[in-house]
Amino acid sequence: MSKTILITGATGQDGSYLAKLMLERGDRVVGGVRRTSSDNTWRLAELGILGDVELIDLDVAEITNVLRMIERTRPDEVYNLAAQSFVRSSFEQPIYTADIDAVGPARILEAIRTVNPAIRFYQASTSEMYGKASESPQFEHTPFHPRSPYAVSKLFAHWITINYRESYGLHACCGILFNHESPLRGREFVTRKITSGLAQVKHGQIKTLAFGNLDAKRDWGFAGDYVDGIRRILQAPKAADYVLATGQAQSVRHFIELAAPHFGLALEWRGNGAHETGVDTKSGRTIIKIDPSHYRPAEVDALVGAPDKAASELGWRAQVMLPELVAIMAEADDRRVRDGKPLN
Ligand code: NAP
Ligand code: GDD
Repeated sequence: MSKTILITGATGQDGSYLAKLMLERGDRVVGGVRRTSSDNTWRLAELGILGDVELIDLDVAEITNVLRMIERTRPDEVYNLAAQSFVRSSFEQPIYTADIDAVGPARILEAIRTVNPAIRFYQASTSEMYGKASESPQFEHTPFHPRSPYAVSKLFAHWITINYRESYGLHACCGILFNHESPLRGREFVTRKITSGLAQVKHGQIKTLAFGNLDAKRDWGFAGDYVDGIRRILQAPKAADYVLATGQAQSVRHFIELAAPHFGLALEWRGNGAHETGVDTKSGRTIIKIDPSHYRPAEVDALVGAPDKAASELGWRAQVMLPELVAIMAEADDRRVRDGKPLN
């Protein structure tokens, strides 16, 4: 039976892929968009679904707006993907980040509790909550040690979601998602910065790229796989929380090494620390530098998830592993730059 799905943050990477998945399943998809001075629907357009999603003004900063939109659209399920999602910016804007990422979900939960407690709710929790993790890999029960205002805010959201489940019986679930990427990833995140930047180097638009900590390790999967997991989490008969991850971690450095050959670059690392460079041995040109301004006040050194519960209870497994993910992203950015299309 067709359902009404309300997605907050529908213009983001996950919101766009999730909207496409739900439309393909025959659901009515309502997409919450926050008002900005310029159009930000390029991902929905790139997926060919811009005309199919009902777009509404929805900013999770404003409780009356959230209440009205839930009353008006009468969703069966709400997926809260809206967030200030860039960890580094959260150090500069901790209060704003908390308002959107922590209090925002509490506003939605209050609206659901008030309007119709039968509405199912999904909260986009994050592996960043593990931060300085005390065990590896990280499971649902691994203790949290957040290392940024973003992660602290998301931890409040995580627990308030569980609290509404326990207090009021809401069918409210958290997906603890490890990093997931795609050609639709924002360019401020390191994977897309690598593939879009190397495409620009290849086509002569820029000479060098500057990074921070090359040795940070992340468990990178493909966003298309993860939105399928998100949907499954909310369909499970009993509300619960799940880790979604590939189970494998690699460094930023390794991601760059995998990406370089896709752009015809033969990368060699030279030097150490802040003086390290990446040189293309074919041309002899330095294409990668370190810029300490990209270092974070507190870093998350390594994250790797254990998706066993999602596999056994939801039948979910990541399909795309890192080499294929890098190839998909590299190919998309190479094509965009070659064809003179915006990188966004
Ligand atoms: P994203 O591309 O940055 O998308 C975030 C979305 O939230 C955008 O549509 C953004 O709108 C919207 N937004 C920001 N502030 C808002 C506000 N005040 N009211 C309503 N909407 C607002 O992030 P993503 O990668 O798709 O991630 C989706 C969610 O999963 C986020 O909550 C993120 O924190 C979480 N998460 C992501 C990952 C990952 O690896 N991608 C892992 C774990 C958890 P604009 O288009 O106007 O900016
Ligand atoms: N962005 C960025 N830019 N990161 C860099 C750079 C750089 O130039 N150089 C090194 N890094 C390192 C960061 O220090 C971090 O350790 C790692 O690359 C990944 O950074 P991001 O791609 O910005 O992602 P993130 O892991 O901090 O956060 C993403 O994943 C979380 C899930 O674990 C975001 O999508 C969050 O919203 C999400 O919750």
